[in-house]
Amino acid sequence: MRSKILILAMLLGAGCLCAQEKKETAPPAEPAPAAAHPATISAEDKARKNPVKFTEVSVTRGKKIFGTQCALCHGDKGNGKGELAADMKLTVPDFTQPDTLKDRTDGELFAIIGSGKETMPAQGSRLTDEHRWNLVNYMRALSGKVPEKATGKEPEENTITVPQ
Ligand code: HEC
Repeated sequence: MRSKILILAMLLGAGCLCAQEKKETAPPAEPAPAAAHPATISAEDKARKNPVKFTEVSVTRGKKIFGTQCALCHGDKGNGKGELAADMKLTVPDFTQPDTLKDRTDGELFAIIGSGKETMPAQGSRLTDEHRWNLVNYMRALSGKVPEKATGKEPEENTITVPQ
């Protein structure tokens, strides 16, 4: 009798284990989460023309915003060595290398700044469109492109109308 109880207990125990194992190895009910910020750049985004002239004034304005909004990840010089990015173990591209952005149109960069990319969070809500275009111009200058000299006749910041 005793051994029967023992066997029963063992069987029950084994049954329990089985059930547990099944639970653990069952496929997750939810689909694997997609990348937080997929790079969805439409043909329209790609073709969008930069309405802000590539001038020293625009580059200087872009640099100022970059220093406060982007440098923490992208590094003060845009080389991808920002402190926050290092803390978060993010791999950040080096904008000082001409190759990094050479295949990107201005419109693409504008779109990426707005909606983010992979591990980069969207920045659009914190910036005006003009800020974003100035940032694009600054990024071009980072890799060595030389902007037009200032004429002193440039419009004030955020006074030009930027078409969508
Ligand atoms: C929290 C960190 C973080 C901040 C803040 C941030 N970025 Fe990024 N950025 C990244 C990372 C990481 C990538 C690389 C994403 C990938 O492709 O894996 C990236 C990629 C980019 C790219 C795409 C380069 C390419 O061609 O693939 C652009 C353009 C860019 N960032 C511009 C900016 C600008 C401008 C700002 C400030 C307004 C900014 N980022 C703020 C982390 C950041």
